[in-house]
Amino acid sequence: MTDIIGSVYFSKVVFHRLKSFSFALFLFGLFSATSCKQTQLKGDDIDSRVKRLLSEMTLEEKIGQMSQIDPISMPAEQIDQAVREGKFGSFLNVFGVEKINKLQKIAMEESRLKIPLIIGRDVIHGYRTIFPIPLAMAATWNPEIVKKAFRISSIEASSQGIKWTFAPMIDISWDPRWGRIAEGCGEDPYLASAFAKAMVEGIQGEQLTDPTAVAACAKHFVGYGFAEGGRDYNTTYISEPILRNVVLKPFKAAQEAGALTFMSAFNDLNGVPTSGNEFTLRQILRKEWKYDGMVVSDWGSVSEMISHGYCADEKEAALKAITAGVDMEMSSITYAQHLKSLIDEGKVSLTLVDEAVKNILKLKFKLGLFENPYVNPEAEKQMLAPEFLDHARTVARQSTVLLKNEMNTLPLSSDITSVAVIGPLADAPRDQLGTWVFDGKAENSVTPLTAIKEVLGNAKVNYATGLKYSRDKSKTGFAEAIAAAKKSQAILFFAGEEWILSGEGQSRGEINLPGVQEELIEELSKTGKPMMVIVMAGRPLAIGKVVEKSNALLYAWHGGSMAGPALADLIFGKESPSGKLPVTFVKGSGQIPFYYYHNNTGRPANAKSWTPMDSIPVKNSQASLGYKSFHLDYGFTPLFPFGYGLSYTTFKYSDLVLSSTEMTNKGSLTIKASLLNVGNVDADEIVQLYIRDRVGSITRPVKELKGFKRIHLKSRETVSVTFELPASALEFFNGKENVIEPGAFDIWVGPNSDEGLHSEFSIK
Ligand code: NOJ
Repeated sequence: MTDIIGSVYFSKVVFHRLKSFSFALFLFGLFSATSCKQTQLKGDDIDSRVKRLLSEMTLEEKIGQMSQIDPISMPAEQIDQAVREGKFGSFLNVFGVEKINKLQKIAMEESRLKIPLIIGRDVIHGYRTIFPIPLAMAATWNPEIVKKAFRISSIEASSQGIKWTFAPMIDISWDPRWGRIAEGCGEDPYLASAFAKAMVEGIQGEQLTDPTAVAACAKHFVGYGFAEGGRDYNTTYISEPILRNVVLKPFKAAQEAGALTFMSAFNDLNGVPTSGNEFTLRQILRKEWKYDGMVVSDWGSVSEMISHGYCADEKEAALKAITAGVDMEMSSITYAQHLKSLIDEGKVSLTLVDEAVKNILKLKFKLGLFENPYVNPEAEKQMLAPEFLDHARTVARQSTVLLKNEMNTLPLSSDITSVAVIGPLADAPRDQLGTWVFDGKAENSVTPLTAIKEVLGNAKVNYATGLKYSRDKSKTGFAEAIAAAKKSQAILFFAGEEWILSGEGQSRGEINLPGVQEELIEELSKTGKPMMVIVMAGRPLAIGKVVEKSNALLYAWHGGSMAGPALADLIFGKESPSGKLPVTFVKGSGQIPFYYYHNNTGRPANAKSWTPMDSIPVKNSQASLGYKSFHLDYGFTPLFPFGYGLSYTTFKYSDLVLSSTEMTNKGSLTIKASLLNVGNVDADEIVQLYIRDRVGSITRPVKELKGFKRIHLKSRETVSVTFELPASALEFFNGKENVIEPGAFDIWVGPNSDEGLHSEFSIK
């Protein structure tokens, strides 16, 4: 892995240093105007170059830099001229090396100031090599492999001229109805922050001027994942403590990791659209965090402030966006049309415009675009390299979560004489790629059916799709599926959702398996054959009934190009499943929101207090109802808790020891526990550290993740796991200020948010 990334870098450096002459010929002289330098500019150099350039720019040229469009929105013949005149500083969705180099050549040679364009695109979980959806990547609890996945995405994307990706998407969400939960890292701020850092580092690489470096964009700033009712683009109301203690955390991590850009969002937050929100963009991002990168609006979100009812017209939208701190406008053209008159009327100061343009030019300098504006057509050969595909397989494997394994139904022996492979996701090459795939191709997917045939040989596999696609309501395929099951030793049912059912604009009210999948699973269970269900979906589905009817259940999300081989590796025991849930699984939509770090209420429920609805006598006296915080029908627990996931072995936790039972608010604790792999299989365990601040100046969550480690243990091996917990990790915003409050804390080390060894300590 490292090798190929290293060698891509090396070959590019060599290419740029030694072969610029032949490259220039190959590109019909594109390089004649610039020499290819690899040196990273220092902050001072950049600042003085930006200053100089800015002093030469006309207002029109400045506004041009602040405008980004998709060329699809204007006649092709006008684009070249617009670039020549400096009307756009950036494009998104321009495709193809030749086209990008041609536009760049116009910008570099025919525009007055020769400012390079920056080309952006959504490269969300892979470019040609498609990795599992981001929510699945979070289920790996392995930031290192995810960082490499994003590095690979950037190597592939940059080879096509893409120097800016609109990733990572780090919106916390508590709502699996929301289609974009697929794109984020789940519900937890600590876990999402670890991935935000890894993703930014992977996307941008080690040196920003490297040809494979791509600018990251932390999005959507902020609160977009809290859309009311899970309906995309919806209003959000988020209290300041939740905003600061939860929602903003991954964005802070992205900033600290050096994210070059941020994207404002579509939603309004507490009544103010986030693309015109001075509190979040100017007060928090710029003043408190001192963010010195660039802010782009989401697609059309500036002009959408009119529909929000926050601006009367486009002119007011431009005024509010620039005042709040949106440097570049994506897709709508309110800046292009109104900034000049807003300045003439004295409503917008030139300083504000200059600040925005500085941020944009700095980005272009940092990426070395002035020195190396063109893309090397040779680099494309790196697409879908075997090492990349291998890594996609590793990530898909580690992202899969084993949720049930009755009597060790899994793994299957590869000596099995026959297996029925059934279900709409068994051979659905496009669906397994998941949402937000612009450049990956279904033809490069290896499906579970193909991979299983590879392991067992065609003759042993009895395939019947059962449903043609996930939403299929027809039962005409049932008979064939049942017949396939009857003549097989075991059933592998590949259930789930088509890719189009999650992602932007693809929210669902009910989050069960679509179509008649549950009915078919029920029918198949009647055959008495061991049945393993593998769910491939873009969200955590309410799969209670399926769990009941199956003997084993693997949650595989949308696993990308190599989902098939990765699942075959797990099904046949080449490796043990090791993923853990990055999000709570609810029993049904009515239980939403359900996140593990909720507050306790004055009436917390427990097993004794819950009165299941079915057990209430018809003429009941009110006294026996419990009067605690639960649903009569769902109870008070989720289907599966955050952090949950089984393995082919079992792990035993013991000997939790704290270096002290108290610390000051500047101190730190060392926490140790022993972990034994009890079984016969080598496997990874994800050890999790949680705390609870028992009493606070505002009510505090019942548990909060504060550390995790993925540990490989050989069969019967014991290891000692150590965590450091600095008191600073216990800081929270209490509505007025950030505090670390004295008092008692619980601490757990365990396999998920519901179980673990317990101890306690206090802050003096
Ligand atoms: C809208 C989406 O919300 C955003 O995530 C994406 O980056 C832009 N469109 C550009 O495609």
